Amino acid sequence: MSFSISPLKVCIVGSGNWGSAVAKIIGNNVKKLQKFASTVNMWVFEENINGRKLTDIINKDHENVKYLPGYKLPDNVVAIPNLREAVQDADLLVFVIPHQYIHKVCEEITGLVPRKALGITLIKGIDQGPEGLKLISDTIREKMGIDISVLMGANIANEVAADKFCETTIGCKILENGLLFKELLQTPNFRITVVDDADAVELCGALKNVVAVGAGFCDGLCYGDNTKAAVIRLGLMEMIAFAKFFCKGQVSTATFLESCGIADLITTCYGGRNRRVAEAFVKTGKSIEELEKEMLNGQKLQGPQTSAEVHNILKQKGMLDNKIGRSKYLSHENHLFFVKYGFLHRGVCLD
Ligand SMILES: NC(=O)c1ccc[n+]([C@@H]2O[C@H](COP(=O)([O-])OP(=O)(O)OC[C@H]3O[C@@H](n4cnc5c(N)ncnc54)[C@H](O)[C@@H]3O)[C@@H](O)[C@H]2O)c1
Repeated sequence: MSFSISPLKVCIVGSGNWGSAVAKIIGNNVKKLQKFASTVNMWVFEENINGRKLTDIINKDHENVKYLPGYKLPDNVVAIPNLREAVQDADLLVFVIPHQYIHKVCEEITGLVPRKALGITLIKGIDQGPEGLKLISDTIREKMGIDISVLMGANIANEVAADKFCETTIGCKILENGLLFKELLQTPNFRITVVDDADAVELCGALKNVVAVGAGFCDGLCYGDNTKAAVIRLGLMEMIAFAKFFCKGQVSTATFLESCGIADLITTCYGGRNRRVAEAFVKTGKSIEELEKEMLNGQKLQGPQTSAEVHNILKQKGMLDNKIGRSKYLSHENHLFFVKYGFLHRGVCLD
């Protein structure tokens, strides 16, 4: 991308737990880097919190009390409830919403953002297209006609907001654009590696949530740490097999050794919300929706929905009970079965 003299305007599309943690990083970074405009727009899905609008709370108290309580946001991060207004004139768009809302959001802003704008998605999930698998980045790219990079890693939002050390991975199709987002997002304690394997990076972020559901079932069923380690290992092999099959072999196994791969998988299977809710799902007999309401204070789970999407994609390809390609890992004997088993254990069918 060639830069005009004016600094690049950033808009964060989303303001949940991760969106707010990232807003803290970006708000602080743009103050130090002249390349970027010093005010950052953040689109906030408006909610009423004890009689006050969430946007007013963020703009006056500089805290997202609902999704990232206890952490101050920089005062140059401006919460805007109108999506179209928030993205107007943006040069850089950071997409960080639960994946189920991406179509609605893209449809609302398509045509408003110039095609020379660049995007990055931090969204962990997959979409379903007529051909089966569709990446969220492809959905955004197709709808908006802009280049999209991805950022995925072992990044539990509250730990990042607390400035605890972690790594992450940016996957890009155009290296220059990946490096620009690295400038925007890297801090001394949030270390970024840029790779060109964007599709594999994105698939890692989506698929690890399926494995985390399996890990949660394992905890809920009191199967012990050896079994959980087996679920994680088999889950990783399945992630690699799935990615290689659906990205037509153009993925590097080395990408799975980056933060977006093995590191994110481990974090999610021990600390993430998908594991926690899956454990409760087995133990309490409540529905996922009930548990989301009770345990997540408005946050959304990605794992169960991604499990169902992966299941549908495999079914569409006639691969539910067969091995994927020549891989011996994605068989019904292994993890997908385990996830399915966890749901079946509670009488829930993924079909
Ligand atoms: N939280 C984490 O630790 C973390 C870390 C890395 C990646 N991610 C990924 O980032 C993405 C966003 O997660 P999050 O944790 O910021 O979100 P979240 O689950 O904390 O929050 C839900 C968000 O959805 C918004 N929302 C609610 N109803 C909506 C609607 N009808 N339309 C549009 N938006 C609506 C809310 O305003 C809020 O911003 C997800 O894909 C997640 O997997 C999360």
